[in-house]
Amino acid sequence: MRALPALLLLLASLAGHAETPQQIRQTYVAEAASQQAGFAPSAKRGEALFRQRFAINDKMPACTSCHTDNPLNAGQHAVTGKTIRPLATVANAERFTDPAKVEKWFGRNCKEVVGRACTPAEKADFVAFMSEVR
Ligand code: HEC
Repeated sequence: MRALPALLLLLASLAGHAETPQQIRQTYVAEAASQQAGFAPSAKRGEALFRQRFAINDKMPACTSCHTDNPLNAGQHAVTGKTIRPLATVANAERFTDPAKVEKWFGRNCKEVVGRACTPAEKADFVAFMSEVR
């Protein structure tokens, strides 16, 4: 059962299929709940992850290093200087609608900033924060 949500996410991404942020969050919630009974996503924990400073990478100690302190604002890549559109869904309707894109960037950014993959629970919390922040 544990592999099922990941499999669904993979199939969805192979189909290039658009989802809503709620559906993407729900996939992570289901995956987290299979590891931790009664898991419920928390925008507050998602915000804490977004702001937490890690000691892995001097150039990008936090998600905010590129996405800025305010997810409603456009960010700037800490290394290349390229503009990054806002992460909050209220400011950028394309966010958290493409499961493959979401997985790709969680994969890359968590590894670089946190030093490991983010857990399904952390991803569910992060999507909750980005969907709810106003
Ligand atoms: C080195 C700069 C950088 C840092 C630090 C960074 N990101 Fe990003 N992030 C990007 C870029 C570049 C993109 C892709 C461009 C875009 O989508 O606008 C992106 C996109 C994303 C997306 C895709 C969302 C979507 O639906 O389009 C997620 C999720 C994400 N980042 C999460 C995180 C998390 C979580 C952290 C902290 C652990 C983080 N990022 C830190 C640069 C960064």
